[in-house]
Amino acid sequence: MHAVGIVAAAGSGLRLGAVLAGRATPKALVPLGGRPLVAWAVATLLDGGVDEVVVAVPAAERAEFAAVLPAGTRLVDGGATRTASVRAALAGAGEADAVLVHDAARPLTPPAVVARVLAALAAGVPAVVPVLPVVDTTVVVDGDGTVTAAPDRATLRRVQTPQGFDRAVLAAAYAALDDTAELTDDAAVVRAVGIPVATVAGDERCAKVTVAHDLALAELQVAR
Ligand code: CTP
Ligand code: MG
Repeated sequence: MHAVGIVAAAGSGLRLGAVLAGRATPKALVPLGGRPLVAWAVATLLDGGVDEVVVAVPAAERAEFAAVLPAGTRLVDGGATRTASVRAALAGAGEADAVLVHDAARPLTPPAVVARVLAALAAGVPAVVPVLPVVDTTVVVDGDGTVTAAPDRATLRRVQTPQGFDRAVLAAAYAALDDTAELTDDAAVVRAVGIPVATVAGDERCAKVTVAHDLALAELQVAR
């Protein structure tokens, strides 16, 4: 099974708001333990068993990304949304059997999670996501913030990346998706065309760096 990793790294990181050397810096280039988030994400995919990696980057910063990524990493210009960025990277993924789509914003994802996703694909599922249980009671609210429902927590999961797919299944699902559609993950893209999505165990270390607090927590983990 030839597996290609796609890293969505073309966001601007507005909520993190990193300014380095006086310049607004895309989140994926922000250092964690001295190494840019995108470099952590690419290394995790390779360590976990993918054969090659395609990274969707902001067009204006392509050279900065190339300078911090291993030789052989392919770069493509990302789009205005994560969905558009993954679509662009998928077009550059070539003849792979499997595709794993990962966020640059999840730098400390253990390679074992990548390996679990690859194993599920090798066993024949068309789509698989790493998940964790929900530990808080989780509710639905209306427009005024009044609770309208409390789904049984035992049936809920938090979804992480990397998300794994049969390449042809993911390509067909993106082809069927409206050009302007914006979905929060890739499992939603295949579910939209009726493909079942399996789950494997995720890991708390796959946590996404969204705001400054998340980066501070990640720094504590790499300092240990
Ligand atoms: N992403 C992308 N292309 C975009 C937007 C997001 O490839 N047009 C990527 C980000 O680089 C990130 C991942 O999708 O690795 C998850 O997105 P998010 O955490 O929202 O990152 P940003 O969009 O960069 O952050 P923000 O929403 O705070 O601006
Ligand atoms: Mg975003």
